[in-house]
Amino acid sequence: MCGIVGYIGTKQAAPIILDGLSKLEYRGYDSAGMAIYDGEKINITKSVGRLKILENLTHGGETMSGVCGIGHTRWATHGVPSNVNAHPHFNTDGTITVVHNGIIENYIQLRQMLTDKGYQFVSETDTEVLAHLLDYYYKGNPMEAMTKVLHRVEGSYALGILFADCPDQIFAARKDSPLVVGQNQDGCFIASDVPAILRYTRKVYYVDNQEIVRLRVDHMHFYTVDEEEIHKEPVTIDWDANAAEKAGYEHFMLKEMYEQPKTVTDTLLPRIKDNDIVIEGLNMTDEELKGIKKIHIVACGSAYHAGMTGKYVIEGLARIPVEVDLASEFRYRNPILEEGGMVVVISQSGETADTLAALREAKARGFKVLGIVNVVGSSIAREADNVMYTWAGPEIAVATTKAYSAQLVALYLLAIKLGRVRGAIRDKEYASMLGDLRCLPDQIELLLNNKLKIQKFANRYIGAKDVFFIGRGIDYAISLEGSLKLKEISYIHSEAYAAGELKHGTISLIEEGTLVAAVSTQPDLYAKTISNMVEVKARGAFVLAVTCEENKEIEKAADYVIYIPETNPFFANSLAIIPLQLFGYYVAVGKGCDVDKPRNLAKSVTVE
Ligand code: F6R
Repeated sequence: MCGIVGYIGTKQAAPIILDGLSKLEYRGYDSAGMAIYDGEKINITKSVGRLKILENLTHGGETMSGVCGIGHTRWATHGVPSNVNAHPHFNTDGTITVVHNGIIENYIQLRQMLTDKGYQFVSETDTEVLAHLLDYYYKGNPMEAMTKVLHRVEGSYALGILFADCPDQIFAARKDSPLVVGQNQDGCFIASDVPAILRYTRKVYYVDNQEIVRLRVDHMHFYTVDEEEIHKEPVTIDWDANAAEKAGYEHFMLKEMYEQPKTVTDTLLPRIKDNDIVIEGLNMTDEELKGIKKIHIVACGSAYHAGMTGKYVIEGLARIPVEVDLASEFRYRNPILEEGGMVVVISQSGETADTLAALREAKARGFKVLGIVNVVGSSIAREADNVMYTWAGPEIAVATTKAYSAQLVALYLLAIKLGRVRGAIRDKEYASMLGDLRCLPDQIELLLNNKLKIQKFANRYIGAKDVFFIGRGIDYAISLEGSLKLKEISYIHSEAYAAGELKHGTISLIEEGTLVAAVSTQPDLYAKTISNMVEVKARGAFVLAVTCEENKEIEKAADYVIYIPETNPFFANSLAIIPLQLFGYYVAVGKGCDVDKPRNLAKSVTVE
């Protein structure tokens, strides 16, 4: 979603800001802009479209001289993508400029109030009210104006602000939208995400809700919204900066798919100690685990699909009922949470607004929340009572692959741990499951190495209009994710259906040549899925099957078969998803789509 970068120091600010914004491009945006203080006034350049255009307009930042500035990449919410709606926004005489991530929910009332007082608006954005409201309250003291504004606005924000009267300072603030600040020997930085400033500093401070930061060349001060100064401890980021580079791959998505064996290993192996599953962040005794009566998994998008798999695996292995909710639904449907219930939220970014709100809803009702989260220090990681990290490293491509695979493995571990503690898994099964889990990374590697076969097949479908994915049980959960991967990056309409449900309506969409991908990894359901394949084939469908090596019977019903290696059926998702990810990827590449940055999408969805 939108990105923010700001710098004040001894170097030229514009090239640093452009570089930082380029590291946030993956989050998705449709326009970009910068405000730089040149020693006398604040100059602004902004443009709809890619960051490259802003770079060209400013000759890589050279034409915007100055050592203090803020920049932004915008993902339109209020108002179309346009030069006028791009950030930074400014007050009437251009002496106060603002970049903003998030949504000001009461902007209509504020806009009306300011219009009545004579302020004129040029954009359709909610952000512009902030520039005029700051102007309204500004009487020579920026902190005073900021606190007044922050007390009046409702909604979410990460802000970077320049006041022309204070050329040696940047102001920043945050509520429900991520913001970090950092410092090195040359200056201080603000950013909406760590990769933007990782090249300059590894020491960062996470700004908390309703905090304000005042940054100068050589120091930063933190305050509450009531102007009380607070002390914060820095966090040292230990990721490899190269993790956020393409390392010779054509796209981040391909690189990240290839990182899956490592991601699965990293999430899995440190938690298997002397044949025992140790989930250190879980912080629950065996007695507490035995007492769980129901699990609520809440997430969005692919994380929700991982949760769907989690439902089948936990119910199957631990015999605990699991309800899976879309976070955007959970938060508003007055969910029934009863004693003995456990809430698990899943999120790669740890910043998804709906998932965060669902977490808060569960906590407000007195339930402890376990977060399965990838980004360390993210809002969900900090607000969840317990955190189980998926150690997937930074994921840059908008379409998730490696973080999803890590989420699956985290859920398997949780399911086996629960099943073991509750006596639902016997010793022999347990040993065999751990053995199967340990084999997953090599098996994933094997499937990735089969990419040419899938690429060739995918090339036939770059002109497809509709594609259907079908499966039963866990295979339905895999189908949901396979379908999402295809549609989000290739823009081909695709739907996933529980295989037995197709004939209740959707089968009428099958025409001569329609591709139906049938996933069949559950031995007790092989025959049932074959029947559904035969049904669609009889109506002209071309059937691609993803199944296990032993299921040769499927060749009688499928037109093309991709086999996955043998594993415990509960873990088959981790293998079956690989050819589906590759299929979506190669269809999108074949169509010439911007694979890493699909249109209209953002990496971390920090608005409702
Ligand atoms: C799809 C995708 C999204 C995310 C969803 C939740 O490829 O990446 O569907 O899974 O937006 O995001 P997180 O996991 O960051 O909460």
